[in-house]
Amino acid sequence: MANVIAVDGPSGAGKSSVSRIVGEKLGYLHVDSGALYRIMTWQCLEEKVDTSDPAAIAAFAANVAIECRPEGGRIAYYVKGEQPGNRIRTPEINAHASQVATVKEVRDRITALLRDMTRYGNLVVEGRDITTAVFPDSPARFYLTASAEARARRRQKEEVEKGIANQSAEDVKKSLLARDAIDSTRKYAPLKKADGALEIDSSDLTLEQVVETVMNALPTEWR
Ligand code: DC
Repeated sequence: MANVIAVDGPSGAGKSSVSRIVGEKLGYLHVDSGALYRIMTWQCLEEKVDTSDPAAIAAFAANVAIECRPEGGRIAYYVKGEQPGNRIRTPEINAHASQVATVKEVRDRITALLRDMTRYGNLVVEGRDITTAVFPDSPARFYLTASAEARARRRQKEEVEKGIANQSAEDVKKSLLARDAIDSTRKYAPLKKADGALEIDSSDLTLEQVVETVMNALPTEWR
């Protein structure tokens, strides 16, 4: 059985950077589960599926083909032979992804894809329900958080640096809080700190400090 490090937390808490670096240090594949929800959302929008209609999303999602392949230290995703890249990082996708992620059929499908990835080897998986629903039995579970201000600042900087959008920090914060509210109050697998997960508040920590905290908390035989 593969080792799985599970990392949950709200948007902008630093899950991606921390998971990527921990994965590099240990030679574990980095798995961005949020990208799968974003891909489903992107495909719904491309095909004009009404993202406020759970039944329409469920029916459509069953037929979206996502190919998952280990590549360059992570699991890469392909849709119709192409990687989605920044097309799944736009404010429009941000605005619809939480809604799509409330649909049980979408969650079941993505949970199955994520569990199946253990056949590729040891993983660092980040998301919202990894510690509670996808890999609840992992001995290495983390809940990464930070103040809304710190999270909005990071996300805005990232959007500008990547040339994805040019929103104000205030707008980024609004969109992020709206998503947090949907993600943590939905019926199926809401975002919450799992019993037994180690909570790390990264508001006043450097990336290196967070990585070190995670590394030190891993089972000794994994380090
Ligand atoms: O982490 P992210 O911002 O890329 O996530 C995009 C959306 O998908 C966000 O609304 C939360 C949702 N999501 C989820 O419900 N479960 C996960 N395991 C990962 C993301």
